[in-house]
Amino acid sequence: MASLLGALLRLIPPFPWYRRLVRPLLFRLPPEAAQAVAERALGAASVWRLVASLHNDGAAHTTMAGIPLRNPIGLAAGFDKRCAALEPLGDLGFGYVVGGTVTFDARPGNPRPRLMRLPETESLINALGFPSEGLATVARRLRALRRRPAAVLVSIAALDEAETERCLEVLEPLVDGIELNISSPNTAGLRRFQEPEPLRALLERLNARRTKPLFVKLPPYMDEQQQENVLSLLRVCAEVGVSGVTAINTVPTDEPRMATGRGGISGRAILPEMLRIIPELRREAGGGMTINACGGIASAADAAAALDAGADTVQLYTALVYRGPGVVREIIAGLASRERPAST
Ligand SMILES: Cc1cc2nc3c(=O)[nH]c(=O)nc-3n(C[C@H](O)[C@H](O)[C@H](O)COP(=O)(O)O)c2cc1C
Repeated sequence: MASLLGALLRLIPPFPWYRRLVRPLLFRLPPEAAQAVAERALGAASVWRLVASLHNDGAAHTTMAGIPLRNPIGLAAGFDKRCAALEPLGDLGFGYVVGGTVTFDARPGNPRPRLMRLPETESLINALGFPSEGLATVARRLRALRRRPAAVLVSIAALDEAETERCLEVLEPLVDGIELNISSPNTAGLRRFQEPEPLRALLERLNARRTKPLFVKLPPYMDEQQQENVLSLLRVCAEVGVSGVTAINTVPTDEPRMATGRGGISGRAILPEMLRIIPELRREAGGGMTINACGGIASAADAAAALDAGADTVQLYTALVYRGPGVVREIIAGLASRERPAST
């Protein structure tokens, strides 16, 4: 029945309902209020399950550091910090979803304003500073997850070695893999682990304990000195033997309209930075390490460019805000038609 309905619906020309109808309404709200509305809409889980049943998202046919995935498109960390909507987000078609970033204790994050839109470049600036409900609450939610339409990773914050280790210990059994966030530009304590030796000590501690894939989320670099530092972090990741890296986090910028005076840019504005950095990381890492590309991906062409540049998977966040939930299946369909040989 669902597949018949799906086939009938595919006969109707697609209507850009998100861009024409929903986005104009959402963009009348302040960005954090719009995000809350999106989260409530995702809360209608049965609607998204029905939508998913109308599509054939297929079985796993690729892997990420051994994790079976139905496609290489991931939800980037930060969209579902509370891990409250991972099932419906999986129903959007993602191959994997990254919940979090989760911190050990609950934290309110930075004062507001801390999120703004740059519509002319389909970008955002955020200075959220890790608002988190804390480890215990998120663990309870992950334990209650019934369906997992997509593989589930959780991002944990590297703020303090012992707390990070405890986050890994509690959350790892509940998910398919862990992403360690050392790269938020908005969180002072985190930058300690952007130095090679503190990072090595933390990773050695986590590596001794972990039983599932571990990825490290790297910051972008904008000059030679930063480049040398990030490449040295990558070498530490390779030497310690983590499964892979995700790059890039948001690009730091001064922004007087943020309460903190600074923030991180995401979205189309940083696509060139991501596409510059991924091949350099791939060259440095060699073939063995998984690389997840993230930053400005909003179309199949962007995803293909990142994969061609050396990434194994791609992740997105800001494209969901500007292009809506349909962007995931648009990218999957575009990548699939690229793989299909042209008919003669
Ligand atoms: C509002 C917002 C919150 C974010 N929070 C997190 C976070 O908690 N942890 C993290 O690793 N990255 C976080 N990010 C960064 C994204 O995961 C991603 O690296 C970045 O946005 C670039 O991808 P995009 O251009 O597809 O959004 C956040 C991004 C935004 C826009």
